[in-house]
Parts: sequence; C-alpha cells; structure tokens
Amino acid sequence: MKHLLDTASLSRDDAIGILDIAEEMTLVSEREVKKLPVLRGRTVVNLFFEDSTRTRLSFEAAAKRLSADVLNFSAKGSSVSKGESLQDTIQTISAMGADAIVVRHSGAGTAHRLAHTGWIDVPVVNAGDGTHEHPTQALLDAFTLRRALAGVPASGPVKGGPRGQGLDGAKVAIVGDILHSRVARSNVHLLALLGADVHLIAPPTLLPWGVENWPVTIHYDFDSALSAEDFAAVMMLRVQHERMHESFFPNEREYARLWGLSAARLAKLPETSFIMHPGPMNRGFEISAVAADSPRALVLDQVENGVSVRMAVLYRLLTGQEETND
Ligand code: CP
Repeated sequence: MKHLLDTASLSRDDAIGILDIAEEMTLVSEREVKKLPVLRGRTVVNLFFEDSTRTRLSFEAAAKRLSADVLNFSAKGSSVSKGESLQDTIQTISAMGADAIVVRHSGAGTAHRLAHTGWIDVPVVNAGDGTHEHPTQALLDAFTLRRALAGVPASGPVKGGPRGQGLDGAKVAIVGDILHSRVARSNVHLLALLGADVHLIAPPTLLPWGVENWPVTIHYDFDSALSAEDFAAVMMLRVQHERMHESFFPNEREYARLWGLSAARLAKLPETSFIMHPGPMNRGFEISAVAADSPRALVLDQVENGVSVRMAVLYRLLTGQEETND
C-alpha cells in the first residue's frame, strides 16, 4: 500500500490490518507512553484547502505521537489567494521536505492527482476530496463500531479490542444527505468490504445517480425503515449546506421532521443499537440533542479513535510494516 486514496480500492486484508494496528496504537495510549519513536526524523504535511477541525487536528496528533515533525498548511491565508496553482503549492511544500502528504480539497480526485501526476513522490492520504471519499473517516467509524459491538469500553483501562475480524452481519443504517457525503461513499465501500449489511435511508433528492448499483438496501422513509429493521448502528450525516444547490436545499423544519434522529425515533431503535455521526453535527436538524448526547452515542469515541486509526495509517504508509513490533 503506497497511498490511502479511497476505500473502494482497499482489500479486506489491508482494511482489517489497519484496524488491528490501530488497536496497538490505542494500547500505546493506555500504557501512557506519550510517543512512539517510529517516525522520528520524518515530516508529515497536512495540506488543507477546506475547513476541518477533527481530521486536521487528529492527523497532527497522530503524526506527533509517532514522533514525526508536522507542517500544517491551510489554503486560507496562503499564496493560493495570489493565484498559486495546486502543482506549485504542492511542489513548494515538498521542497521543504515532506515524507507524506495528507490532503483535503473540494475537488473530487485531488488526492489521486497528487499521487499519480508525478509532482511528488511520497505517500498521499486523502483527508476528504469533494463529494468523493473520506477513507480515514470510514476506517475510524469501522474501528469504533467493531469495538462497540465487541463490548469494549470506550475509555478506561482496556487490554485492546477485537483483532483480525470485520463487521460480518452487522446491520448499519446511513441516514440523510448521501448525495454530497464523501463519508457515506467511503463507509458504503468499507462496511460492505467488512461484511456489514448496509442500508441507506434518504429522500430520493439526496441520493446520487447510480446508487441502485451500490451494495446497499435503500429506504425512502425513516420511520418505516426503523419499524422493519433492527439496526446495530445508525449513522447520521450532516446536511451539507455548502455543497447544496439551492433547488435541492431542504426546508429545515421539514427535514428535521422527516429525516432527523428525534427522541421519538431514538426510542424506536433497539436498546443495543449505537448512534454515530462523523461531525460536525447540526443539532436540531439531522440529529436531536437527546440522540447526540445519549449514552448510546459514539460521536466522541469516533473522534478519540480517529487519532489511533490515523496513527495506524501513517505508520503503515511510512514504515511499510503491516503490524507493530509491540
Ligand atoms: N468528520 C470530519 O471530517 O470532520 P472535520 O471536517 O472537522 O475534519
């Protein structure tokens, strides 16, 4: 594995391998070892052309916990505003010494371009490209769900979660603005690869063209889907106002009524099912505060696990090793 550009081209072995390394990385934290020396002398560049809180900070934390140096680039306030191209930006940063590039960009396919144009010759990690993919989000979601379904407590002294297994048979619903969601695309590929039974619940206007060919079951009515299926997890998606064409923009009150995870819908879910959201959340819109703050919500576990999963990805790409020597 030279790059991590999407989940569509991951093998099941690679995906489970990353989740298993992430378990080792979590153990490092549990033992209160602040840092591993494995990437000492290497530089990871975070190249963000779109806003981010979770992804950028957790890649920075992950790189630092592996002892790498980190350069953070944000397009806002950079020479991009003076017209500098993507090629010149990336080659300028590369000239300062980059051993890996983590990139977020509004253009679908940007990470593929950086990996394959020959502008640079280092591992590229896609941290979100337009509406295409967000592979590390899907990996951290799968990691969080694998642990939750195995009954591993989210925090406290943990001897490590499950290893060597996927999510076989787990029934997972992804709800909301599928059309604009790179998180949904990455999750559909990865969850299906790991053996989960994936359901999409969305209004027809917020589903992409060709979705009927995806390995999913589609529902157009949230309440009927909740009555018909026992979901192990329900993953709510942010409605992406910034990518929404005006004619598609849903009326907020109506969207919340039909597609929001309200207290009433939370009560319809099996007691054992988990609530997930990649963040940032629009509380009161796609998710109620009652659901977001419920003990069954894994939202902050997803954030916490994001660091371990991104450590695993950087470790795998920069050392080429498939397991830690822990
Ligand atoms: N989930 C996610 O990608 O969050 P950020 O936009 O804050 O990075």
